Amino acid sequence: MSDSAFPASPTSPPGGEPVIGKLVVVGLGLIGGSLAAGLKLRGACRETIGVVRRAETGRKALELGVVDRVSASLEELAPELGEGDVVFIAVPTLSVESVLQTLHDCVADTVTVTDGASVKGSVQRAVEKVYGAMPPQFVLGHPIAGSERSGVTAANPDLYEQHRVILTPLPETGVEHRERVRNIWQAVGAEVLEMSVAEHDQVLGATSHLPHAIAYSLVDTLAEDIGNPNIFRYAAGGFRDFTRIASSDPVMWHDIMKANRGAVLDSLDLFIDNLTRLRGAIDREDGEYLLGVFTRAKAARDHFTNILAKRAFVPAMTTAKIDYLLQPGGQVTGTIRVPGDKSISHRSIMLGSLAEGVTEVEGFLEGEDALATLQAFRDMGVVIEGPSEGRVKIHGVGLQGLKAPKKPLYIGNSGTTIRLMSGILAGQAFDSEISGDVSLAKRPMDRVANPLREMGAVVDTAEGGRPPLKIKGGQPLKGIDYHLPMASAQVKSCVLLAGLYAEGTTRVTEPAPTRDHTERMLTGFGYSVSRDGAVAELTGGGKLTGTKIEVPADISSATFYMVAASIAPGSDLTLTHVGINPTRIGVINILQAMGADLTLSNERTVGGEPVADIRVRYAPLKGIHIPEDQVPLAIDEFPALFIAAACAEGKTVLTGAGELRVKESDRIQAMADGLHTLGIDAQPTEDGIVIVGGPMGGGEVETHHDHRIAMSFAIAALRASQPIRVKDATNVATSFPTFVELAKQTGISLEVIDR
Ligand code: S3P
Repeated sequence: MSDSAFPASPTSPPGGEPVIGKLVVVGLGLIGGSLAAGLKLRGACRETIGVVRRAETGRKALELGVVDRVSASLEELAPELGEGDVVFIAVPTLSVESVLQTLHDCVADTVTVTDGASVKGSVQRAVEKVYGAMPPQFVLGHPIAGSERSGVTAANPDLYEQHRVILTPLPETGVEHRERVRNIWQAVGAEVLEMSVAEHDQVLGATSHLPHAIAYSLVDTLAEDIGNPNIFRYAAGGFRDFTRIASSDPVMWHDIMKANRGAVLDSLDLFIDNLTRLRGAIDREDGEYLLGVFTRAKAARDHFTNILAKRAFVPAMTTAKIDYLLQPGGQVTGTIRVPGDKSISHRSIMLGSLAEGVTEVEGFLEGEDALATLQAFRDMGVVIEGPSEGRVKIHGVGLQGLKAPKKPLYIGNSGTTIRLMSGILAGQAFDSEISGDVSLAKRPMDRVANPLREMGAVVDTAEGGRPPLKIKGGQPLKGIDYHLPMASAQVKSCVLLAGLYAEGTTRVTEPAPTRDHTERMLTGFGYSVSRDGAVAELTGGGKLTGTKIEVPADISSATFYMVAASIAPGSDLTLTHVGINPTRIGVINILQAMGADLTLSNERTVGGEPVADIRVRYAPLKGIHIPEDQVPLAIDEFPALFIAAACAEGKTVLTGAGELRVKESDRIQAMADGLHTLGIDAQPTEDGIVIVGGPMGGGEVETHHDHRIAMSFAIAALRASQPIRVKDATNVATSFPTFVELAKQTGISLEVIDR
């Protein structure tokens, strides 16, 4: 048996190199005791010493192995402390000042001092009061790892594993002290962040101090003000979940409220305001208002749950990055349905929001891109219920009913959202701004800004015509006759959507057919769109009426499995309910021309879109020259098709596909680089690529934040001879949230690894 009551942490075995000399913890409660125990267990300091007021606490701390020794006073220890040692002040916030006095009087200025108080402004003021100015040895900090439990018996050496610690260094803070404090927190498994004192207190005032004030107040209301003595007997999960933190240490929280008075009052006022409005809505029986608050809150809370679960998501979206590790070989079999079509899902939210009445959507893609569109419309005041198992209910506000968003719209990785929405925003009475992630920030937006300007819109882009887009409200638009310079459904749709707000007729002519979901769906919402060959036209000033939409499975997502089954000997896979809109079936035509064995059955039309089940059996493929008229019809499918080409016999040549260079990544270059890594002869050209099929090795491939590059190399492993590591597959969640699940289900050996 070890001398500690704590078992060794599975992630950080004991016996590591010490990162500091002695650690002195003043206040051996949950926070202080856990840091001491964590460093001790991991061998990360030479000695841990607790300063305790009560002998009983010291006895327990020693018994539990929280520290190596205890002392009754800091004065007593001071002479033995010097450079490399750290004092951690972990007493309640308002007691910090008395500890500082002792520190000032007897601890050398070479000793590093840090703290764990929940409010940083009050500690800063206290240090400045006692010392006259902030000495370099002080590094104020706050571990975000509290719990309602307190005292030395709650100390836990693994408490800080995967928790965050915020440091609030000041200009005066010494670099070596700052590094030392960083090191101790990292040694116990914490992630260290830095922010200013003011920002810390504002953020924590809202996310920690306010909820504690509310939880205490709610329980007190029930206990004191509601005259039923049996009330807690009937309280269940809701009460338990909401009020757990009302069991926290009252003295500590009394201190925090006083120490962070200003910031707590600011958030409390906002909350009281919101609660008063909610009260009014309940009183008026205003269902729309209630649904608005509840659906927005649910979305925000679910987002938080995703962050906790280390899943990817939206605003400042993706926090936890993942890689895929694939074992070579295998085959795919079974019957699967891939998630809903991304293009149609986006449009269902946009048109549903602009319609009058309710729109119900089924089969909605719950991927980050479509969710970003959904959130953007919520931010503009549209009440949207769901998504829940692909069902979404949109309470349309009419073409003139959107409200100004309170902050810039953030739409992550989604090019479709920014391009289509810019058309809608150009017609609004309010100003707006849309931005996205690093990959989106590189994509060209002049292609939408230019025609919108011709219509009378005022649109600003960042340098080089990139996002963010700033769109001025209240500009009268007029219809134009626009000849698209490139085959792009996004640009076509943007112009048509702006046309809904324009005076007169808007006509768009495309150089080659592109996906026509906008035209079809507008018609489904009762808006008249006339189409004649390459021309689509509509007249502004009409209205959209809420409807029902069934979203077919996305042929672009199905593509990865069509190629997987085509290249892996022994495969036999059926994909059900796949959208086979004629403007999207380039991939079927190309694969069939290469010799793939695809059969379509059960062809039918759902909600204006044709669908079918597609059975794919392995068949040897041969290289072809891809007909240029198929390029716009398969524009998103080329990364996967390049894998098919790498597995085919002979040469595959693609031309006329320069658009691939401005997708979520430069897909020609990204695929060529990855294929080279696997040992394939792939020569990029300006507007395409030449790939010679051959044996594939393995290795590490970069995705450049592009979901389709990641999925393409995942399926390539079926024909590789060595494992493939797909570096940064995080963005797969933008379009295909169930990719990993379906890969495993069908027989692909895929492991997800945290980066
Ligand atoms: C889309 C159009 C295509 C496609 C994108 C979705 C759409 O983009 O690549 O994934 O939903 O309209 P372009 O219009 O830029 O070709």
